[in-house]
Order: sequence, then structure tokens, then C-alpha cells
Amino acid sequence: MMKYLMANWKANYDLSLFLELVQSIPEGSNFVSIFPPFLALWPVAKNLPFGVNLGAQDVSIYQSGAHTGETSAEMLSAMGVHQVLLGHSERRSQGDDLRCLEQKLAQMTAHRLSPVLCIGANQKTVDDALIAALMSQLPAGLERFHDFKIAYEPIFAIGTGEVADIDHIANVLKKLDLALSTRYPYSEIALLYGGSVKASNVRDILAIGYCSGVLVGNASIELKSWKELVEICRTFS
Ligand code: PGA
Repeated sequence: MMKYLMANWKANYDLSLFLELVQSIPEGSNFVSIFPPFLALWPVAKNLPFGVNLGAQDVSIYQSGAHTGETSAEMLSAMGVHQVLLGHSERRSQGDDLRCLEQKLAQMTAHRLSPVLCIGANQKTVDDALIAALMSQLPAGLERFHDFKIAYEPIFAIGTGEVADIDHIANVLKKLDLALSTRYPYSEIALLYGGSVKASNVRDILAIGYCSGVLVGNASIELKSWKELVEICRTFS
């Protein structure tokens, strides 16, 4: 079964590295998505191998017009973007609350952009309270999408080098799968894991049945580890 590999480059910028990273991906790697910073969308789009997906790290709540500094869903769509990261903990901590995510989703619906919705908590014990807390981070409007992706990213694992235990990930994804299929009976939902994923741990994570892929930060902007990640994920496609 195909497993997704999503690269979140965050607020890093090194255009020559970006081009090397992108050009290292074999043509036809439709399991790969790249989420560059806005400024790099255009050069990345021009150099993207056939089949690789282009994503954006954010989208404006506004459609167009007098909103200085905003990047609209329409602009992203014109650039060839198909997916947008929403609800990353680094954005929630900057004020992206449920209302804001709902407004962003509405803009995305209008331009057929597909959400990769991030949810996370800082809790290591897996219990009903954790699942309820994660489910409460899902904005209204998701049900309008026939298919979307949810990335479970425990906060203690993001950017720390401390990946969550395999048992923890497997348990959370299994419980989320059940809760999500009850809430969204008409949608195809792919569950991803994110948080300190690297070449040395990605095989074990992807071996989890409920895990359809990984969202990678740091290890996606280092050429050697990126190439290894692509190679490993390719074996699942
Ligand atoms: P990390 O970031 O791989 O550097 O932990 C993951 C993310 O924030 O999506």
C-alpha cells in the first residue's frame, strides 16, 4: 500500500538546496508532497519532477483584495498547489484557532485545495481524554471534503529528535481511525504521523497498519536523509 511522504520545509530558505532536494526525487513519485515556504513555491513548482505534489504551509482566510501580506487560495491554486497544511501546532500557537481554520477551509473548498490537517497534544499516555482532545482540534467544514489527510503530531516530538514510541503512535492512530470514521462516514481519510521522523525510524512507523504516511520537518531539508526517506517510502508504493 502506498505511504505518503510529506516534506514541511517551514521557514527555512536555501534555494540551491531546495532545487537539489526536489531534483533528487524520481519522476512519478506521486507519494511525495513538498510544502515549501511561499517564496519558494514558484521555483519549486518549475522544477518539480512529474507526479510529485506541491503543497503550501498556509492559506489566507481572505478571498482577495485589500489584505496586505496575505496569500490567497486562488494564488496558491494558480501556482499549482493542491494541498495545504492546516492546524500545525506552530500555527495554532500563533493564533490559528478553530474559527480561523474554518475560514481557511472555506477558501480551500472554493479552489479545490486538499487539507492536510495537523492535530497534536503533549500527552504520552494514550487514553480517551487524549483522543477527545485531538478530535476537538478538527474544524467544521472538513466533512465537505471527499478525501483529506490528518497528521497526528505529538508536540513533544516536533523538532526535538524525540520520536513518539511505536506503541503510542499505533494506539493513537487506531483510536483516531475509529473516531474519524464515525464522525466522517463519507470521507476517505489518510492518517499520517509527524514528529522527528527520519530515515532510521521511518520504516517502523510506516509498518503501522493505520499509518498512511509521514510528515517530516528537519530530515526533509537535509539532502542525504531526504534521499534515504524517499527511497524507503518508495518501497511501499
Ligand atoms: P520535525 O517536524 O520532523 O522536524 O519534528 C515535523 C513537523 O513539524 O511537521
